Amino acid sequence: MGHDHHRHDHDKGFMANVHWLLKIHKFWQADTNRAIVDMVDPQPGENLLDIGAGMGPATVLAAARGASVVAVDPSGLMRSICGMRRLFQRARSRITVESGTAESLPVAGGSIDALWTVNSVHHWVDLDLAFAELARVLAPGGRLVLMDEDFTHPDHPRHETHHDHEDEMTAVHVEAIAEALCGLGLEATGQKTLAAGVPVKLVRATKSA
Ligand SMILES: C[S@@+](CC[C@H](N)C(=O)[O-])C[C@H]1O[C@@H](n2cnc3c(N)ncnc32)[C@H](O)[C@@H]1O
Repeated sequence: MGHDHHRHDHDKGFMANVHWLLKIHKFWQADTNRAIVDMVDPQPGENLLDIGAGMGPATVLAAARGASVVAVDPSGLMRSICGMRRLFQRARSRITVESGTAESLPVAGGSIDALWTVNSVHHWVDLDLAFAELARVLAPGGRLVLMDEDFTHPDHPRHETHHDHEDEMTAVHVEAIAEALCGLGLEATGQKTLAAGVPVKLVRATKSA
């Protein structure tokens, strides 16, 4: 089944692929991905989920720490790159690359010890559906971290070139997201802070055990 109805127009088609390929050097490895893996603190044997995993920079770091990671992305191009990258990892047997979106996650309910996403929340099309999915897939006691770089912040190094990118995407309001997750029975907080030295919008939550 395709996931195009859960993708912005901006994210579909040939030009979207060209756009991603031109940015491969930025997405291959980013300090924000290292920062989120430190926040998630993967433990050996855990089942983890990287939503909107892209080329898998956080997936490979988390798998190297001994956890099993499902990397989910609706883009076939991203999954191909992530899948190829997987082959070069010592931890490849613990990495699975799946088609899916935040709104429709390809994992069983209650099966995930921790999930995260970097720079994908503004790509999500139906936030309420996505939040219900996050709450569904987390195991009791499971944790999540959602991080989007805050290009609207004047201190962001790419503020000048990226600040109006958000106009055509989904607005990310950390307090509203935290409130929605609390409404689904999670304990959640949202804040604007720094990660790897750049301004980010950050939501952290846990599901009660
Ligand atoms: C800016 S990239 C970030 C990729 C990766 N997390 C990183 O930090 O390098 C955003 C990713 O979100 C994916 N995406 C688009 N719509 C999505 C949705 N509804 N649910 C989950 N991911 C989505 C895109 O295909 C893309 O790979």
